[in-house]
Amino acid sequence: MKLSSALILTIALIGSAHAQCPDFTTFSQTPQGDPSSGPLALPFMRVTPECRTFNSTAVEKVITDMKARLKDPDIARLFENTYPNTLDTTVKYFSKEENLAFIITGDITAQWLRDTGNQFAAYTSVLALDPSLATLVKAVINNEARYVSAFPYCGSFQPPPESGLAPSHNSFADLVTVDPPVNNRTVFECKYELDSLCGFLKLSRNYYNQTKDTSIFNDQWYTAIDQIFRVVNEQSQSNFDADFNWVSFYNWTGEPWIVEPTRQQCWRGGAEGVYGNPNDERNIVGMVGTHHRPSDDLSTFAFLTPANAMLSVELGHLADILTASGQSKTAQGKNVSEQATLWSKRTRDAIWNTTAGYISVVNNIFAYETNGLGSRYVMDDANVPSLLSLPYLGFLDINDPAYVATRKLLLSRANPYFAAGANFSGIGGPHVDAWNPWPMSQITAIFGTDNDDEIMTSLYLIANNTAGLGLIHESQSIYNYTSYTRSWFAWANSYFAEMLLDLAKRKPGLIFKTNEPYVPGQR
Ligand SMILES: *[C@@H]1O[C@H](CO)[C@@H](O)[C@H](O)[C@H]1NC(C)=O
Ligand SMILES: *[C@@H]1O[C@H](CO)[C@@H](O)[C@H](O)[C@H]1NC(C)=O
Ligand SMILES: *[C@@H]1O[C@H](CO)[C@@H](O)[C@H](O)[C@H]1NC(C)=O
Ligand SMILES: *[C@@H]1O[C@H](CO)[C@@H](O)[C@H](O)[C@H]1NC(C)=O
Ligand SMILES: *[C@@H]1O[C@H](CO)[C@@H](O)[C@H](O)[C@H]1NC(C)=O
Ligand SMILES: *[C@@H]1O[C@H](CO)[C@@H](O)[C@H](O)[C@H]1NC(C)=O
Ligand SMILES: *[C@@H]1O[C@H](CO)[C@@H](O)[C@H](O)[C@H]1NC(C)=O
Ligand SMILES: *[C@@H]1O[C@H](CO)[C@@H](O)[C@H](O)[C@H]1NC(C)=O
Ligand SMILES: *[C@@H]1O[C@H](CO)[C@@H](O)[C@H](O)[C@H]1NC(C)=O
Repeated sequence: MKLSSALILTIALIGSAHAQCPDFTTFSQTPQGDPSSGPLALPFMRVTPECRTFNSTAVEKVITDMKARLKDPDIARLFENTYPNTLDTTVKYFSKEENLAFIITGDITAQWLRDTGNQFAAYTSVLALDPSLATLVKAVINNEARYVSAFPYCGSFQPPPESGLAPSHNSFADLVTVDPPVNNRTVFECKYELDSLCGFLKLSRNYYNQTKDTSIFNDQWYTAIDQIFRVVNEQSQSNFDADFNWVSFYNWTGEPWIVEPTRQQCWRGGAEGVYGNPNDERNIVGMVGTHHRPSDDLSTFAFLTPANAMLSVELGHLADILTASGQSKTAQGKNVSEQATLWSKRTRDAIWNTTAGYISVVNNIFAYETNGLGSRYVMDDANVPSLLSLPYLGFLDINDPAYVATRKLLLSRANPYFAAGANFSGIGGPHVDAWNPWPMSQITAIFGTDNDDEIMTSLYLIANNTAGLGLIHESQSIYNYTSYTRSWFAWANSYFAEMLLDLAKRKPGLIFKTNEPYVPGQR
């Protein structure tokens, strides 16, 4: 979603319980509270307590603990601003009684499955410490189970009717036709992105793993899981039958100009590309196709390596939580667990299979996308899942030779979406443009290395480039320090805080005054 449309959509948001509470899109574009005492002098960017959309004592405790330990007051300020951002600003509706919560992405009033899975990932380690926060996450999962059950091909949704919140009008969605059809009371945008479904799985397993609460495994949740397997099965089949009739399970068509970015469509979608690539070998490939990327841009080739990697990892965890919780003793749980194990292995094997000609990995270099017929697109996009994020996703180890070689390529000009300027560098993507890398890519880079110098360089590339605003933006121009997109992007804030909490455990000496690791809730 482009910033301009995001701003228009946000107008629908204002008018909450506290009339005096600021619109955070505007609030986040100007330095607010006192600056930090480090050279970057980053402002305090939290709204006042009465304007916060959720309060968590456990989260406040983590902020206090981290501030006491972090040696650089500018990094401490970034943590203090970013960690609570999702709870402070994006919980538009929560009802414990209805077991429903609606979480917005930030400047756009819609709930993305991908974003929420990641917005809450940073709070995983405190779920067991804060029952009310756990209840919120359970309500998010329940709301998403409803969305996925009804519209498994969609990734972004409207508030539940119980909330009394009006749906937002998405002018982009007006200009496309989606099949199977969707209704705009429930769906904000129906781009089929395989990793959105993985976002739901990730949230479910993090919640279960921390709380051991089996009540999430209700009928609605199982219906959602069945729908996920429906999509996996449909999108792993040939899209031409033996007589070359196109077999359609999902299509998304519209005017060429709304396609982001405007470019030749090689795959389904866009005015020219409804039929997509002929590909009658999907069953053999073992990969699951997607239609859009995690950036919400159209895919060039259907088989997105990082999304399949995430699927493989999350299905493995799904099987594990069903076993650990005893669910796999029921017929339903056993069935899901078996399918999950099968598909987890099938997609993993497909990614690594260098013998079949359908190759993700050649000479230790992963392709971002492949078409199942030998074509490969070597690049990376800034959003997670990306190739750079393969270790973060849990797909492989940071020392895996294929990761090491691919990472080196991705953080160089051999990746068409890598860009470097005087002050900032990183990976961007066609979603914004080639000279606006995303700070998120530097966060991902930190998760993918043990090298102290690389970690510190990435950390300060991020910290130095907030346009003096102390929050993490979507993209940052390499030419102009003050030019960025999305002042309010909750996932980017959460992801930054999640990375610092990971360093607190993994590399405390780099960022803390002492070398003692910190894990929330542990002494
Ligand atoms: C959070 O706490 C403040 C008081 O510190 C209160 O005014 C506010 O209503 C609380 N927010 C929620 C969503 O409960
Ligand atoms: C939903 O679609 C209908 C029919 O196109 C339109 O009139 C209405 O404004 C849309 N609602 C929203 C919230 O976009
Ligand atoms: C889109 O999908 C539907 C079935 O879901 C199909 O009837 C229709 O023909 C498809 N559109 C095109 C252009 O093939
Ligand atoms: C479950 O939680 C433990 C302890 O917090 C953690 O080490 C493990 O990686 C988690 N597993 C999954 C699948 O999330
Ligand atoms: C699971 O159930 C579905 C139907 O609900 C069936 O088609 C499938 O074969 C079953 N899978 C396994 C592994 O038992
Ligand atoms: C790799 O692909 C070939 C050809 O389709 C297939 O025979 C083989 O079993 C696959 N290997 C793995 C490990 O999936
Ligand atoms: C961050 O800014 C400081 C102060 O201008 C500078 O010394 C440092 O080299 C910068 N770090 C990076 C990684 O750009
Ligand atoms: C680099 O950062 C400095 C402030 O540290 C700023 O004055 C300069 O304009 C920046 N250059 C670019 C190209 O953004
Ligand atoms: C830098 O970006 C800001 C914000 O977009 C803009 O107002 C300013 O004119 C730009 N400066 C230059 C030198 O291009």
